[in-house]
Amino acid sequence: MLKRTTVAAFAKRKREGEKIVMITAYDAPGAAAAADAGIDILLVGDSLAPTVLGYRNTLPVTMEQMLHHAAAVRRGAPGSFVVFDLPFMSYQESLEKALHNGGRALKEADCDAVKLEGGAEMAPLVDALVGAGIPVMAHVGLLPQRVQTMGGYRIQGRTPDAAERILADAKALEAAGAFSVVLECVPAELGKTVTEALSIPTIGIGSGDGCSGQVQVMNDVLGLFENTPKHAKRYAEVGRIIREALGNYAAEVRGGVFPDDEHSF
Ligand code: KIV
Repeated sequence: MLKRTTVAAFAKRKREGEKIVMITAYDAPGAAAAADAGIDILLVGDSLAPTVLGYRNTLPVTMEQMLHHAAAVRRGAPGSFVVFDLPFMSYQESLEKALHNGGRALKEADCDAVKLEGGAEMAPLVDALVGAGIPVMAHVGLLPQRVQTMGGYRIQGRTPDAAERILADAKALEAAGAFSVVLECVPAELGKTVTEALSIPTIGIGSGDGCSGQVQVMNDVLGLFENTPKHAKRYAEVGRIIREALGNYAAEVRGGVFPDDEHSF
């Protein structure tokens, strides 16, 4: 049996000053590539909705769709630490529903932990999930599942009051038992302050280099889309390579070049 990393390893990494690398994964080949590249944590993000399923934002994705993709990620990376992003309204409605859906992520898709968005108001829920044996990664700052009430995808924690609130949220979630906190789109200085105030690791996205680790959306890093958010760096131009390859294939079929003798029986 493959021995997987447990949540305790990530706190140790923080104590020892070793950065944690997390990336989103949505299917078996992507997960296998991330595992081969030595990525520490695979996040089956609800960004599945806009990046893979073609939705406008993360809100429409369902538990069933997330489970379908999470199971594929697990098959592609059997030894990796996989976090299941609980989708919009799969945990906010009631503690019972959160426990039920958190349990499904571990039982049905063999994930190692769940992630949920929200601040101190989520602490009782985090406590209940952890108490039931479901490790929780918290998520504060910009909360894409609250895009409607937050008034868009904006940097959070810019004012002293807002920064205080985010720090207090992160502390409350740590006290409730979260094993790490995603810090999305907060000023770098706040990212560092929160990281120094917690003993659990922070995983930043657009929150500076003071965090214990970083997470990015795989499609952004690979350059699959035309537009890249400011916080993401394109490490390849895979979108262009795919278009060129498909264009060449189409041209060769139409021109009678493919299939040739080498690709025929
Ligand atoms: O769903 C997602 O991809 C995320 C990360 C951006 C943190 O939540």
